[in-house]
Amino acid sequence: MQKYYYIITYGCQMNVHESEKIAGVLNELGYSDCNDINKADIVVFNTCCIRENAENHAYGNIGMLKKLKAEKRDMIIAVGGCLTQQMGKADNLHEKFPYVDIIFGTHNLHKFKEYVLLKQSRKKPVIEIEEDSGVVCEGETPLRTSYPNAWVNITYGCNNFCSYCIVPYVRGRERSRSSENIIAEVKGLIEKGYKEITLLGQNVNSYGHGLNDLSFPKLLDKIAKLDGNFRLRFMTSHPKDFSEELARVIAENPKICRCVHLPVQSGSDAVLEAMNRKYTSAEYLYKIEILKKYVPDCAVTTDLIVGFPGETDEDFEATSSLVKKVNYASAFTFVYSRRDGTVAAKMPNQIPEEVSKKRIMELVSLVNSLTRGHSAEYVGKTIEILCEGYDDKKEMYLGRDEFGRMGYFKSETDVIGEFVNIKVLKANGVSLIGERV
Ligand code: 5AD
Ligand code: SF4
Repeated sequence: MQKYYYIITYGCQMNVHESEKIAGVLNELGYSDCNDINKADIVVFNTCCIRENAENHAYGNIGMLKKLKAEKRDMIIAVGGCLTQQMGKADNLHEKFPYVDIIFGTHNLHKFKEYVLLKQSRKKPVIEIEEDSGVVCEGETPLRTSYPNAWVNITYGCNNFCSYCIVPYVRGRERSRSSENIIAEVKGLIEKGYKEITLLGQNVNSYGHGLNDLSFPKLLDKIAKLDGNFRLRFMTSHPKDFSEELARVIAENPKICRCVHLPVQSGSDAVLEAMNRKYTSAEYLYKIEILKKYVPDCAVTTDLIVGFPGETDEDFEATSSLVKKVNYASAFTFVYSRRDGTVAAKMPNQIPEEVSKKRIMELVSLVNSLTRGHSAEYVGKTIEILCEGYDDKKEMYLGRDEFGRMGYFKSETDVIGEFVNIKVLKANGVSLIGERV
């Protein structure tokens, strides 16, 4: 009888790709994907703990499965990812949700197959969280779900210890895959027809540290020079490691998208220092200047946090002013979330919720106005879209241009996975509506 899996993913692109690896394992074990949780023989929660709401969201959904599990005793529930990797969280989870069958962390994802097989043969839950062993997994077979886009890990973990961030504690020390393995994976994807490759790491710019291998700009250059009709992206870059050489490599390689995600977090030097970001706002702006010198049309996107402990009105103003100066194409905006175990969690002057709320609303409205301004400039222009899918509601195909802007258009034929030129007729907030030319 056919067995089905259902995976729920929280958090970032890194997690989305890890869920593809989980799906690959389940596929090997004879499970198929299904879009109805009630039909699933195994449900996997791939969790995130970067902010409290991501964590609460997962707890809520795991709780909601209690009834289904009572009706379907053979259904396996597995919980893995960043949340379970946090100190003590696996035990809490087991206590709170005793019906969860498998609990694993980020460092033992490669043993997931073993855990499912073990659980199939016994009643007792399988709970294992491992310490960071520094191992770089190879030979995984992700079941990719986002054709024509594909993600490729180049580094794992993070050594930066930004004071607000839990990632270094749950994903371990930074380590890089060998360039040989990365390039082989990318080549394989291009041969299979993937058209957009995104290199992934918490800080791709520090790729290769500790290895006698290529630097990140050299790796990027080598991949961008591979034969084939594809686009190349990378994320995320830490501004402190963003170099002139990297800007030059982007400029020299048309396959590298003119779109760089460079999280600034705050525009205030005092806050940046307290965040342990290791740059000032002036140094950040200088990096942008270098980037624009080599790649004048480059779209820049960012991450911003409001309500960091001690953030004054003046600090917040400095963030707004930097956002205007850079004129970001788009930005992810977050309210600071206190994470146990981080340095910032112990800082005095945690900001009251209502102050953070007011600031985030102001910032979101500023970012939206910039994004709308960029969109308006597109009207009348012809852009190249990589078609990613079809929107049933809008009855239009959709995809992104190299600057990351979403465009919608009608087409008589299925063009998913193709590069399509569209003339932009209308800008609708962040997205563009156009017609094929
Ligand atoms: N609170 C709010 N935002 C956070 N981020 C990371 N940790 C926190 C936190 N504790 C944001 C940063 C980072 C993005 C991935 O998530 O902006 O760049
Ligand atoms: Fe977190 Fe900073 Fe590492 Fe990014 S660079 S994952 S924000 S510690």
